[in-house]
Amino acid sequence: MIGTDLEEALHYLQRGELIGLPTETVYGLAGNALRPETVSQIFAVKNRPVFDPLIVHVADIRQLDGLVQNIPPLAARLAEACWPGPLTLLLPRTARIPDLVTSGLPHVAVRVPAHPLARQVLGRLDFPLAAPSANPFGYISPTTAAHVEEQLGGLIPYVLDGGPCPVGVESTIVGFQDNQAIVLRKGGLPLEALEALAGPLLVQESSSSRPAAPGLLESHYAPRTPLRLWAGGGTPPPAVGVLSFSHDYGQQVQEILSPTGDMPEAARNLFAALRRLDAAGVPAIYAELLPETGLGRAINDRLRRAATKAGEKEI
Ligand code: TXA
Ligand code: MG
Repeated sequence: MIGTDLEEALHYLQRGELIGLPTETVYGLAGNALRPETVSQIFAVKNRPVFDPLIVHVADIRQLDGLVQNIPPLAARLAEACWPGPLTLLLPRTARIPDLVTSGLPHVAVRVPAHPLARQVLGRLDFPLAAPSANPFGYISPTTAAHVEEQLGGLIPYVLDGGPCPVGVESTIVGFQDNQAIVLRKGGLPLEALEALAGPLLVQESSSSRPAAPGLLESHYAPRTPLRLWAGGGTPPPAVGVLSFSHDYGQQVQEILSPTGDMPEAARNLFAALRRLDAAGVPAIYAELLPETGLGRAINDRLRRAATKAGEKEI
């Protein structure tokens, strides 16, 4: 059921059940991170392999007391500057974090989400929330409550409706080595902003065999319709669906992410546009890559992964 009742959402979470939770990036499938039965339910509902660990969400940095230890000074600085917000940090965990949450890894992924409803929920709980994106494993992340309900509605009792997600792509994930920041997933916090705070970054490009963030398999975030990366320009075959940044190709089935070429607007619209194209019944989606700056990097990263799943190459 979709609703806006905070008390009802809290009721389910307190009983160890799962809900769809709005965050500023995408909707999460949230449950008590400290309760192993609940965490294992998250994996079951998403059909997610247990080697792919979960992000733990807290109300503020103080809620991390006893859950993480030896926070690198650079991590503390980034947390101070960017939380609440679309940044996930990998920090050394304590034994209070169930093994299942981190898939047995020594670090736990944590973030303080900025969405007002997520903040209210977390502020009322005395436990943190494990929350992966609320989509079946490998599919496009949800950016509205209806997206969650469509795919997981039969499996969870409640989706808290916080409207469309204002950022629209998942958080940027950062790990640390020798007080150096390593970007494991490009996301809602642009690399330029991160670099201004953290100095030169190491950016780990994904590999399908041994990704550092196990969920960052090349094939991910994917519609079922074959998706081809497209340099743009020219005329696409009339039958295909087109995803463009700002240009109107006059295609019968097309999604223009931002007619004015505004990157944050494009990010906000990306996943809903991909879902509509996937439902349009076209034989293929031609997706135009965006400029590789700001949120364009996170958008292109999602498009490349979607194309890999469909076995399609750049055209
Ligand atoms: O914006 C977001 O981050 C959203 C919202 C709901 O917070 N969450 C999200 O979670 O995108 P999920 O589970 O869909 O993606 C989390 C990614 C996965 O690729 C996972 O492998 C990686 O984070 N990850 C989680 N814990 C990790 C860890 N301990 N070490 C390395 N990677 C980790
Ligand atoms: Mg996900």
